[in-house]
Amino acid sequence: MFFELSEEHLAVQAAARDFAQNVLKPGVIERDSKMQYPYEEIRQMGELGFLGMMVSPQYGGGGMDTLSYVLAMEEISKVDNSCSVIMSVNNSLVCWGIETFGTEEQKAKYLPLLAAGQWIGAFCLSEPEAGSDATSQRTTAVDMGDHYLLNGTKNWITNGGSSKLHIVIAQTHPEKGHRGINALLVETDQPGVVIGAKEDKLGIRSSDTHSIMYNDVKVPKSNRIGEDGFGFKFAMKTLSGGRIGIASQALGIAGGAFELATAYSKERQAFGKPISQHQAIAFKLADMATEIEAAKLMVYRAAWLKDKKMDYTAAGAMAKLYASEVAMRHTVEAVQIHGGYGFVKEYHVERLMRDAKITQIYEGTSEVQRIVIARNVLDGNLYLPITGA
Ligand code: CAA
Repeated sequence: MFFELSEEHLAVQAAARDFAQNVLKPGVIERDSKMQYPYEEIRQMGELGFLGMMVSPQYGGGGMDTLSYVLAMEEISKVDNSCSVIMSVNNSLVCWGIETFGTEEQKAKYLPLLAAGQWIGAFCLSEPEAGSDATSQRTTAVDMGDHYLLNGTKNWITNGGSSKLHIVIAQTHPEKGHRGINALLVETDQPGVVIGAKEDKLGIRSSDTHSIMYNDVKVPKSNRIGEDGFGFKFAMKTLSGGRIGIASQALGIAGGAFELATAYSKERQAFGKPISQHQAIAFKLADMATEIEAAKLMVYRAAWLKDKKMDYTAAGAMAKLYASEVAMRHTVEAVQIHGGYGFVKEYHVERLMRDAKITQIYEGTSEVQRIVIARNVLDGNLYLPITGA
């Protein structure tokens, strides 16, 4: 086993940390409270290469591995989870989905725009009545010969307002169940694409989450990803990797809260000494550090499995399940360590606590992760590379 990051990984981590602490942090409280979309910050993230990190250089991306992406996500998520969810959906759901399963024409047309952040992508799977039960799609893509006619409503769509390209999951052959579902690339300036109101959310408040309506939208057949009926498997395979991105977001939230709580506990005096010198606080910090380290190993290992082209579905689901629980638990503790200061916006930890909750919900709830893990365990698919060399 080898636990050292390479020079390249350390450089990516340092660049993301520098950007998060110096560019994102100064305005993050105001953007959060005003639900202000981070246009300028996202433009800069595109320029710096954070929006297409794993895209091949031939399509304008950084050509980096999943571990580099996870390290950048972690640092950005210590500060601004609206920016990191925009980054995560664009990188791991939209760009990765198109590069892995798209046609040459689709890759050449869309990836350079997405990797540069000139276009932001959205992944449109959830519906008012199909969340965890993703096979029950009501949105229809009727085969009209040379195009599909798309009708339906999607809910909770990250990047829903800012996106120029949607990957829409829709039912074409209802009699075939999940094998009749397609994934379509929909440019949002098409007639019939209607963006609903922006959601007023508990956390990640400056990211734009919308419902989307498709009313008789004509989608060329050449915009289908994969074979006819591949849409559900496309969504599942893409989400398996997406969950590693959200796991790294959760890891960053927990790490950010831990860093703030540790620094505060060394400064804040009570009963004649820094509160870090009281066992009540020191033990909290010890528990936080221990669980964050455990989550880190799980998240980095899931990324490593993906980079090694090994089965990462269960490892990614475990990493997301555990890291999101750690994020929730320890942001609450970070607020507690800050006392009254933790309850006000200026100290950042209350925002991280609000942001933590969504990591237990999107890209599959904790309950969905347990379904995925249990099925893999029962099928004997769990890959634990603790074998001889
Ligand atoms: N990789 C490849 N194929 C997979 C797969 C995977 N990870 N998971 C399932 N499949 C395949 C199965 O093999 C099966 O194919 P066959 O019938 O050909 O064998 C098919 O897909 C159906 O699988 P299941 O029978 O397991 O399907 P299910 O109905 O029991 O559901 C589920 C399984 C895991 C609960 C799934 O529905 C699921 O993941 N739900 C949650 C959806 C989700 O994550 N939504 C998040 C929305 S996106 C988002 O949040 C983005 C954002 O904006 C931030």
